[in-house]
Order: sequence, then structure tokens, then C-alpha cells
Amino acid sequence: MEAETLNAVTWTIPNALCLVGSRSGDEWNGMTQSWVTQVSMDPVLIAIGVDRKAVTNRLVREGGAFSVNLWDREDTRVFRSFSKPAVHEDSMLNGRPVREGSTGVPIFEEAVAWLECRLWQTVEFETHDLFLGEVVDAGFRDGGRDIPVARMEDTRMKYGGVRRGGH
Ligand SMILES: Cc1cc2nc3c(=O)[nH]c(=O)nc-3n(C[C@H](O)[C@H](O)[C@H](O)COP(=O)(O)O)c2cc1C
Repeated sequence: MEAETLNAVTWTIPNALCLVGSRSGDEWNGMTQSWVTQVSMDPVLIAIGVDRKAVTNRLVREGGAFSVNLWDREDTRVFRSFSKPAVHEDSMLNGRPVREGSTGVPIFEEAVAWLECRLWQTVEFETHDLFLGEVVDAGFRDGGRDIPVARMEDTRMKYGGVRRGGH
């Protein structure tokens, strides 16, 4: 099997594209995330795979929580700006307003729908860690139920496949 084939096949897996919010003390962050799914009903657990070198990885470990922010599929520009550590200023991350959830993590005011999760368990791998979070709160913004959320195929960006530069 060629690495190129494995890359191409993994890229065909349909994924949502969202922002993960995290926080440790005064440090707040948001990050573009595509590996996200529900993995249990009782408790309701949401799994995210996060690069071990990402700022978000450290903040989720330190803060013990994360948020998943699903976004309007008409506004995919946001995902490029959150693919590096975010600027936190005046209750905003990269100019996008956030509020503090019950666990302390940032939740994006503009998110169409959001989940707030308390870290339940961490499974460590070489390049990424799997964070399993128990949902402690969730909601829609006004009118959010009727807005289609962003998916990987709404952009030309790719994520996944085999390890390469940067790892
Ligand atoms: C379209 C797209 C999807 C991404 N999906 C993930 C993902 O699922 N997991 C991950 O660890 N990084 C993912 N990334 C990369 C992170 O967004 C990127 O490494 C970011 O710099 C990490 O942010 P941080 O260091 O501010 O936490 C993705 C990037 C893009 C552009």
C-alpha cells in the first residue's frame, strides 16, 4: 500500500469541520478540528484527536475540558485563521467573540451549535492524543437548528493520512 493511497482514502472519510475551544488559566485557544465524533451514549462521550504538539493539547490536559463549536458552512474562512495558535483579546479569539462555559472553556458566540465537554479519559498515541470528553452542556445559537454546519468537503483543505513533515 502506497502512503499516497492511504492518504487519499483517509481523506474520503466524511468529517465535520469545527473549532475546538480550550483554556488553562489566562491562556485561551481555539483550533480547527476535523477528527471529532460521538463514541458513547451513557455517558455521552465526544472524542477528538489532537496533535501532541498543538497548544490545544496542553490546554485540554491542564484545563480538563474542551468545547466543540460547529460552524455555519457558509463561513469556512474561519478555519484557516484557527490553524495556528489564536490571538486572545477583549473576550475574542482571532476577533470572534467567545464566552466562558461552566467548565471555564471558551464557547464561540457565533457557533451554530456547541458542546461543552469535561475530559473523561485520554488515550495517548505517537502523533496525537484521543481526548474523550463527557458532555456537560450543549446548545444552539438563535436559529442555529436550521443552519447547515461546515464539513471538510466545504473547503479544499485536507487533514489526516500518514505522518509527514512536522511530526
Ligand atoms: C482543515 C483542517 C483540519 C484539521 N484537523 C485537525 C484535527 O482533527 N486534529 C488536530 O490535531 N489538528 C487538526 N488540524 C491542525 C490544527 O488546526 C493545527 O495544527 C493548529 O495549529 C493547532 O493549533 P494550536 O497549536 O493552536 O492548538 C487541522 C487543520 C486544518 C486546516
